[in-house]
Amino acid sequence: MDRYAVAGHPISHSQSPFIHRLFAEQTGEVLRYGALDIPAADFINAVAHFRRTGGRGLNLTLPLKELARDYADVCSEQVQQAGAANTLLFNRDGRVYAENTDGLGLIRDLTVNLGVRLRGQRILLIGAGGAARGVLSPLLNEAPEQLVIANRTRARAEQIRAEFKHCERLTSMDFESLNQGRFQVVINATSASLQGQTLPIGEHTFASGACCYDMLYSHRPTAFLQQAALLGELRLSDGRGMLVEQAAESFMIWRGVRPRTQTVISELSKALASLKSPG
Ligand code: ATR
Repeated sequence: MDRYAVAGHPISHSQSPFIHRLFAEQTGEVLRYGALDIPAADFINAVAHFRRTGGRGLNLTLPLKELARDYADVCSEQVQQAGAANTLLFNRDGRVYAENTDGLGLIRDLTVNLGVRLRGQRILLIGAGGAARGVLSPLLNEAPEQLVIANRTRARAEQIRAEFKHCERLTSMDFESLNQGRFQVVINATSASLQGQTLPIGEHTFASGACCYDMLYSHRPTAFLQQAALLGELRLSDGRGMLVEQAAESFMIWRGVRPRTQTVISELSKALASLKSPG
């Protein structure tokens, strides 16, 4: 049976096996999808073993996304731009293809699932690490009026800005100035919520009724969404829909069929809700 897996370190928290099991059931595709705990130092050996034992594709998470890009024979434009891959396909001809489906996952969740308009809007992207890089180009492709990046370490935002110097719609702003701009869409691509840390956003960060999106997800509102909830009537969403949508894109690359995602997002939400009250 064809084998797939999500690989990372740590990996036990990953919802990807749950999501891909639902995709396989729904589409009738016969496959196995597991989780592999692979520290960065073991990456090459572990992937070689996985391929020898029926491995046809991998999803990658921290800290393996850059290694996956380096490992591949062919990298998509999106992988080259993001500098990281979240999907590997081990083709039957022996070649390894790398894709990054995070950006498309975010765009689909925002525009299709949540009905958020991006074209012609003012969008704020907070963060300048790997997560932000992965979604930058797909966001720009949606033709916003302006995409502004802000990062705690200003130099990292400036570095990205320099790489996109041909793109006038991409600008940067000081982290200390986050409480201004009245953006219609605000996306948190920092890992601050993981440590329960807040960001210097305020009521002037958001336009009335703005979409406030945390790319992280949790069984309870993330620190960022809890913070935003106090700042006005905003449309709040965490990254669970993005997780399912990026997974669907990977599944499509591997199996040539795109699963329906709505029911899977609902199932994931139920599973997350059940984590709230263990026992
Ligand atoms: P990832 O791949 O998840 O993006 P990363 O490349 O380490 O991980 O980037 C983490 C991002 O979260 C960075 O933008 C980081 O800001 P710095 O570049 O200043 O480090 C941001 N970040 C993490 N914790 C933060 C906090 N408490 N407040 C603000 N930004 C934070």
